[in-house]
Amino acid sequence: MAGAVGMILVNDEQSGNDVVADPHVLLVSHVNYTDGKYIFDYIKSTKTPMAYLTRVKTELGSKPAPFVATFSSRGPNLLEQGILKPDIIAPGVSIIAAYTEAAGPTSHISDTRRVPFNVQTGSSMSCPHASGIAGLLRTLHPDWSPAAIKSAIMTTATTQDDSMEPILDDSSSYVKATPFAYGSGHIQPNKAMDPGLIYNLTTLDYLNFLCAHGYNETMIKSFSNSTYKCSKSFSLADFNYPSIAVPNLGEDSVTINRKVTNVGSPGHTECMSRSHQK
Ligand SMILES: *[C@@H]1O[C@H](CO)[C@@H](O)[C@H](O)[C@H]1NC(C)=O
Ligand SMILES: *[C@@H]1O[C@H](CO)[C@@H](O)[C@H](O)[C@H]1NC(C)=O
Ligand SMILES: *[C@@H]1O[C@H](CO)[C@@H](O)[C@H](O)[C@H]1NC(C)=O
Ligand SMILES: *[C@@H]1O[C@H](CO)[C@@H](O)[C@H](O)[C@H]1NC(C)=O
Repeated sequence: MAGAVGMILVNDEQSGNDVVADPHVLLVSHVNYTDGKYIFDYIKSTKTPMAYLTRVKTELGSKPAPFVATFSSRGPNLLEQGILKPDIIAPGVSIIAAYTEAAGPTSHISDTRRVPFNVQTGSSMSCPHASGIAGLLRTLHPDWSPAAIKSAIMTTATTQDDSMEPILDDSSSYVKATPFAYGSGHIQPNKAMDPGLIYNLTTLDYLNFLCAHGYNETMIKSFSNSTYKCSKSFSLADFNYPSIAVPNLGEDSVTINRKVTNVGSPGHTECMSRSHQK
């Protein structure tokens, strides 16, 4: 409204290298924190700074990819530290998706443009990727429980990027990410079709989980049709979750039990080892 013809959007230090294809009203170039510093230096160096914004072009095979976006949700799990969160990460930056034509691409009231597809960023974009994979697995393996599907997605996720290097975290300008940033890793739909082994969970496991959290019989009844008597011997460390997290490990050793089910070829055995993160 002030008459600008274009804009350069520069990340602050916290936003780091997250350069996203957000829709804008003006012609816009979005640059990362480091490039931004060069631009500011240039602007300060002359009385008549000039800039050209070139046409948009698609860059394929950019590296590193994937990396954890600065805004991605982080662990530890505040409700139950014995369960690692997040479980997985999925694509959520600059995702092209079908878009409502009830609003303009920026969803600003003055934006009268209408587009059938738009670029969006956030958990609302990564969630459908994960849900879509769950749907595909459900079609492929109609007998798998929701817990089995979740296990397959988690145990086949990768912690490496497209250079076979550890996935990086953009929140502190590209340091090695930790499981508190990626959980079991970045989802790999094709691998999830055939996880070999799964960590299954039944309704009783969930009820035991609630027992261990101090839910009494009255409360548990609202989750289950029959009355359930909490078993005194159940330990949260044995909740058959597809990841293992040990809070406050200290100097002691801790024994953890897991049960895996073979969903691969019969007789096929596989040894799975997972490291304990303190
Ligand atoms: C910032 O973006 C430029 C491309 O414009 C890229 O060459 C550079 O590596 C990026 N900086 C970081 C730290 O990723
Ligand atoms: C997992 O447990 C559920 C509930 O007991 C069961 O229906 C299912 O067959 C089990 N196995 C798989 C692979 O889902
Ligand atoms: C169970 O817990 C709820 C919520 O704390 C409480 O209102 C209720 O009185 C408890 N019932 C029993 C039988 O202890
Ligand atoms: C619990 O009871 C309700 C109402 O009778 C029924 O619709 C539902 O299927 C039952 N759920 C299970 C897990 O048995």
